[in-house]
Amino acid sequence: MKVLGLVGSPREGGNTEIMVKEILEESSENGAETKIYNLNELDIKPCQACMHCKSHDGECKTDDDMQILYKEMAESDAFVLGSPIYMWQMTAQAKLFTDRLYALMGFPEKLGETSSALVFTQGNPDGDLFEDYINSTKQVFDLLGYPVKGLLVSAGDQTLGDVKNKEDILEKAREIGKDLVN
Ligand SMILES: Cc1cc2nc3c(=O)[nH]c(=O)nc-3n(C[C@H](O)[C@H](O)[C@H](O)COP(=O)(O)O)c2cc1C
Repeated sequence: MKVLGLVGSPREGGNTEIMVKEILEESSENGAETKIYNLNELDIKPCQACMHCKSHDGECKTDDDMQILYKEMAESDAFVLGSPIYMWQMTAQAKLFTDRLYALMGFPEKLGETSSALVFTQGNPDGDLFEDYINSTKQVFDLLGYPVKGLLVSAGDQTLGDVKNKEDILEKAREIGKDLVN
């Protein structure tokens, strides 16, 4: 059992990283091997819409660090994608990753039985404000073939590490970490 963590915030030690790590820690305590990547540190280019993948069994021909993640994902049973809300949406780093999953669409044998969880942090204190966006993002991952087993939003996080003081959110993160394994 392997769970992969993908952090879509450029901020080291930020709220996204804290939540993703909390999930991974709980997955680890429940017997999973875990690994974490910060998408900001990887060289992930935008999808070029070349459609090479569609005639090559889901193989993306862009030779960048997304190749590392395709391999990691193929070997993982679940992954957690975390992102701050930037301008009402996920960060550009998280979106580059998400777009590149297009290569795997239509190739279920490449996906395996991988489930997912999505975590968001936002500065605005209204946790329902981006509900439509977050639900449609969930639909994207469900449709791609990574059923979303956990969805978590931490609202009102203005500064680095705010979420550390939110035991309710951290507890929900731990529940997700457990659910991904069981
Ligand atoms: C460029 C930028 C855009 C942002 N846009 C939004 C936004 O649209 N809505 C919101 O509630 N918070 C917004 N925020 C606040 C972040 O989502 C929030 O502070 C989050 O906790 C940061 O996560 P991190 O600590 O993992 O980096 C924005 C922050 C930045 C830097």
